[in-house]
Amino acid sequence: MNTKILHVDPSSIRFNKDEGIETCTPVFTDPKTKSYLEEASSILRSHKSCIGFPTETVYGLGASSLSDESVKSIYSAKNRPLDNPLITHVASLSQLHRRILPPSARIPDIYLPLIEKFWPGPLTILLPVEDDTILSRLTTAGQDTFAVRIPSHPVARALIAMSDEPLAAPSANASTRPSPTLAEHVYHDLRGRIPLIIDGGPSNVGLESSVVNGLTNPPMLLRPGGISLKQIQEVGHGWENIITAKKTANASEPVRTPGMKYKHYSPTAKVILFVKCGDGVKAIQEALSRYPNSNIALLTGSKFEIPENVLAQFAIVDHLGSTITEMSHNLFAKLRSLDENNMDYIFIEGVPDAGEGLALMNRLSKAAHETISNDSK
Ligand code: TXA
Ligand code: MG
Repeated sequence: MNTKILHVDPSSIRFNKDEGIETCTPVFTDPKTKSYLEEASSILRSHKSCIGFPTETVYGLGASSLSDESVKSIYSAKNRPLDNPLITHVASLSQLHRRILPPSARIPDIYLPLIEKFWPGPLTILLPVEDDTILSRLTTAGQDTFAVRIPSHPVARALIAMSDEPLAAPSANASTRPSPTLAEHVYHDLRGRIPLIIDGGPSNVGLESSVVNGLTNPPMLLRPGGISLKQIQEVGHGWENIITAKKTANASEPVRTPGMKYKHYSPTAKVILFVKCGDGVKAIQEALSRYPNSNIALLTGSKFEIPENVLAQFAIVDHLGSTITEMSHNLFAKLRSLDENNMDYIFIEGVPDAGEGLALMNRLSKAAHETISNDSK
């Protein structure tokens, strides 16, 4: 299969502010962007294959949530295990009601303040799934809930509105690889396996959406992401009590928080993560001495102060970012680019595993082969 890449201009898409998230009618000032998204929409409406498209978090691999055939195309293009359910993306609340929910269904009250504050944006909620749902059961992987969000990326929202297909879309990487934040990343992993990638420039946030379950009491944070735990707690109305789901350590256990048991976000190089290591000098020197004759890269944050003579022992030294927002935005792209440079090891300066740092540390610990912490001494 030939994989086509079409470049679109996100700044050429406008939404009527009065519509809010109730409805979505995109207006295009660039005819090429409009015609490319029409081309993408017709593939999505055929229910035969999935395509790569940009969202504000990471690139998604999208296909209609309403047909088994299209959802299967996602699992097979990615090599994704079938027990890891998918997020459905809609353009507006009216589309969610009209295309997915039964006529009598209401969104549970607990979600309303959250939706009001964070949609469109990087927050995914779980809704109950009815026995006679129109959703492909392959999107829910046997759960009695389905995950849904309204993305804020103009290209994603316009595409979903134009095709009028709710899109099941995991991150558009090959399973276990770092999520893609550029169209090139999608091409690298899925070339020949999908017909089309819409290139709308870099994904802003860089980490996936936060996934919350408000159907349990207390509500649960299933995956930290683009909206921080603190931002969610500040909404109140029950969300101040939100608890964080624990990882399922044992891969043979049934999947309680699906997706948590799998290896994730891994470059080919082995990631060594440094936490609570102060200025990093001692920990880095010790670790370097354990891997002689290796190609090692160092990705720094804001605390490490490594002297020149130590830096000289690395094949590549790069700055991940000075703030958590910057580090999150850069992480996946930097891991991928270090892989292109054939590193054996990537040393990464971590951040405190709390508050704003929760989502970044979640991805870093899943990518890590080993974590070096002063705490363990
Ligand atoms: O930012 C994002 O969320 C990106 C972009 C493309 O929108 N998508 C994404 O999808 O990260 P994916 O498939 O890589 O991650 C979906 C997450 C997984 O952790 C999955 O277990 C969880 O959502 N999930 C989906 N449906 C669920 C359900 N019914 N119950 C519990 N967790 C669910
Ligand atoms: Mg993913």
